[in-house]
Amino acid sequence: MSRDLVLEHITYVNGRTLLDDVCVTFPAGRVTALSGPSGSGKTTLLSIAGGLLEPTSGTAALAGQEMWTGSGDPLPEVAFVLQVYGLVPILSARENVSIALRARGIAPADADEAAEAALARFGIADLGERQVEELSGGQMQRVACARGFVVGAEVLLADEPTSELDEGNRGVVLAELREEAARGAVVVVATHDPAVVEACDLHIALDEGRVVR
Ligand SMILES: Nc1ncnc2c1ncn2[C@@H]1O[C@H](COP(=O)(O)OP(=O)(O)O)[C@@H](O)[C@H]1O
Ligand SMILES: [Mg+2]
Repeated sequence: MSRDLVLEHITYVNGRTLLDDVCVTFPAGRVTALSGPSGSGKTTLLSIAGGLLEPTSGTAALAGQEMWTGSGDPLPEVAFVLQVYGLVPILSARENVSIALRARGIAPADADEAAEAALARFGIADLGERQVEELSGGQMQRVACARGFVVGAEVLLADEPTSELDEGNRGVVLAELREEAARGAVVVVATHDPAVVEACDLHIALDEGRVVR
């Protein structure tokens, strides 16, 4: 049984209408690109899909379970790669990844070991000890990817995860997104990069808060 993430009639109004009657299914085992110009509502839609934000109307649900839990705390099934990275500047790269696992109850030594492996997936194993605030934008983005991917979540929502990366590292992140889908995860990647869209299985496009394809 596939556990798809289903959004039905999602509307989000915050002064003005940012999302207007969005109906989409993000299937398990596939990488879905969510494209659209800046300001079209991609981040808002991912936030609702992952349970960070309550829709004004409509529902987002994983196999019938509502993503909005009433508090803005996402379900444990969900992992994010946030557009502004959401890293803790004074912690090391390894600690930033490790805390995602510790927060899920993994013992610190095991979490640290998995964090090292996740950094290696993105080619930054050598940066584990470095404080995040000393890293470049592209390096921080890869730490954020490692943190999102390390938990092996059922739903992985990545918000423009390759915007600061060169072509080689973009390819690494795309390959890892595909790997997550291959183990059955729902994977959604917001992007306005046509090369990223091309590498995904499915494509949903937003414009001014509406689905246009
Ligand atoms: N908290 C907020 N309050 C009011 N407007 C917002 C808020 N967050 C985002 N917006 C606006 O909502 C629109 C959609 O934003 P966003 O979802 O971030 O788009 P995208 O990720 O596609 O660039 C933009 O016009 C943005 O300025
Ligand atoms: Mg955005």
